[in-house]
Amino acid sequence: MKAPPRLQSLIEEGLIDTVVRQLMSGKEAMVFVVRIGDQTRCAKIYKEANNRSFRQAVDYTENRKVKNSRSARAMAKGSKFGRQEQEAAWQSAEVDALYRLAAAGVRVPQPFNFHDGVLLMELVTDAHGDAAPRLNDVSFTPEQALQHHATLIAEVVRMLCAGVVHGDLSEFNILLAHGAVEGEGESVDFPVIIDLPQAVDAAGNNHAQRMLLRDVGNLRNFFGQFAPALLATEYGAEIWSLYQAGLLSNETPLTGRYERSHADVDMQAVLREIDDARDEEAARQLRMATAAGA
Ligand SMILES: Nc1ncnc2c1ncn2[C@@H]1O[C@H](COP(=O)(O)OP(=O)(O)O)[C@@H](O)[C@H]1O
Ligand SMILES: [Mg+2]
Repeated sequence: MKAPPRLQSLIEEGLIDTVVRQLMSGKEAMVFVVRIGDQTRCAKIYKEANNRSFRQAVDYTENRKVKNSRSARAMAKGSKFGRQEQEAAWQSAEVDALYRLAAAGVRVPQPFNFHDGVLLMELVTDAHGDAAPRLNDVSFTPEQALQHHATLIAEVVRMLCAGVVHGDLSEFNILLAHGAVEGEGESVDFPVIIDLPQAVDAAGNNHAQRMLLRDVGNLRNFFGQFAPALLATEYGAEIWSLYQAGLLSNETPLTGRYERSHADVDMQAVLREIDDARDEEAARQLRMATAAGA
């Protein structure tokens, strides 16, 4: 296809050879499949701030630490320079988050370049090598739903341990990739998390807790359609309380249950309960999977 104007400078710079096609355009960006040499990649062009949803702009701007004080003053005043600075900070926030999360072992697209407001990254693909579907476009068996939910809860924990809350995690911002995975013999389907410009610093943002609870609630509600047992879980509250108590690591066992009164008073007792409940939960899931398979 004819290259859109905003990809022209990347073609001139030799970062892109050809533009193959446009993927579904989301709320905040236009995304294109592009080729460079023998590689197929993905180019994300950010829309202007005034085309974005107000809620995200507010979540993002409030409490975000801006290191350069001139930028901070300009942003606060809302001057033209301020808006440009804010725009640039928003766009580069996604690149920063992608590098940070990849380093923490979270499955995200590999970023290659960020040029003129365009993010060049790995194209997440399905079994045919085409752009992978969003979770929203796929349906799951109960076992698959439980498995992907557990994988994504572990990813949320990994992100939080790396100091990041996604802030817009849902079935629309998770792709179902297909390919080789460490520790698995054959190719499998696995979730890849995308769309991170609104990601916030877990420790330094007043909205981090609310955003984390919303992210985890979205996962519960989506996968709960296929595995209704998930609808009663409270992973978000459990994860946040462990995080706040300084007790969350990538290996921390989770139960999906949360006792408000205990959590604040006696974390050791809760942890013992968690151990017991984890065993119970494992047994329950095994029973469910066996029942479903029978
Ligand atoms: N790395 C990628 N690989 C494959 N498809 C992608 C990739 N990044 C984005 N997409 C597709 O483009 C759509 C919009 O991208 P997204 O990052 O979610 O931006 P928006 O803010 O517009 O929602 C996604 O829903 C997905 O279908
Ligand atoms: Mg999106």
